[in-house]
Amino acid sequence: MSAVLTSQETRPPLLQADGVSIQFGGLKALTDFHLAIRQGDLLGLIGPNGAGKSTAFNVLTGVYQPTRGEVRVAGQRVNGRKPHQINHLGLARTFQNIRLFRALTALDNVKVACRAQGALHPHELGAGTKLRNAITNYRDWWRALLLTPHFQEEERELTRQAEHLLEVMGLSHRRDEEARNLPYGEQRRLEIARALGTKPRVLLLDEPAAGMNTREKADLMVLIRKLRDDFQLGVLVIEHDMKLVMGICEQITVLDHGETIARGAPAQVRSDRKVIEAYLGDSYLESHGGAA
Ligand SMILES: Nc1ncnc2c1ncn2[C@@H]1O[C@H](COP(=O)(O)OP(=O)(O)O)[C@@H](O)[C@H]1O
Ligand SMILES: [Mg+2]
Repeated sequence: MSAVLTSQETRPPLLQADGVSIQFGGLKALTDFHLAIRQGDLLGLIGPNGAGKSTAFNVLTGVYQPTRGEVRVAGQRVNGRKPHQINHLGLARTFQNIRLFRALTALDNVKVACRAQGALHPHELGAGTKLRNAITNYRDWWRALLLTPHFQEEERELTRQAEHLLEVMGLSHRRDEEARNLPYGEQRRLEIARALGTKPRVLLLDEPAAGMNTREKADLMVLIRKLRDDFQLGVLVIEHDMKLVMGICEQITVLDHGETIARGAPAQVRSDRKVIEAYLGDSYLESHGGAA
């Protein structure tokens, strides 16, 4: 057991946050946040509404810049980089408010993500690469126009990849339906398929079970664990339903008012008085006869 733990600790983190803080005006949305995700980790981030969970995701993925502290992805410092640049280093996410191309089919939503993966972004690269990139784009344009065999083969490969991800997420039957016509739970799963399309090494899921019924939620949690194993990911899940996240996560970080008030195994966190007070409230204490 300890040998396993030791080998995990020595693996370099794929995603690391050190002393990350962000302030909006006078509001300290996140203070001195620390996190390390390695391949195979399945971690949870919980806390009451407004605790700073989504803000943490936004800082980790480059949507917001931290006021203090450092974020590293695959060993590289990413402070100041744009979300798509950070995505290219292997970090993908879903959003609390679903963001899909609503008028595109389920398949095309995932294909767009698969296509974006590996694409070069000129402004993040040197001059030589910029030129090569320009030439590549020019060639791609002609290949597309002439529908060359190479282009057609690439298209088929993208379609295969996207179909596979739809299948993994239980959405094959929705392949040709517009995203906006999918039931809510399926839209959430499509978002995950799309995130996987960018071939991440770390997946951040912001309340992936929100709006689902009890059965869908339970199934999704099992699926998340399977994704972690099959895609060899590190996963961080924000979930409002504490019971759900405790069922699958090995380590949980609890935020309250932007501060990390607890971190540890589910059992440890569940019996932490600060967590009970902040997160579960008096109703939990009453129904469970006080803190353990
Ligand atoms: N862009 C922003 N500008 C100002 N305040 C923000 C912004 N984003 C989040 N906040 C505030 O930061 C706090 C944490 O929000 P959030 O991270 O969304 O909480 P959670 O996801 O834990 O419910 C809230 O008080 C929220 O209003
Ligand atoms: Mg949130």
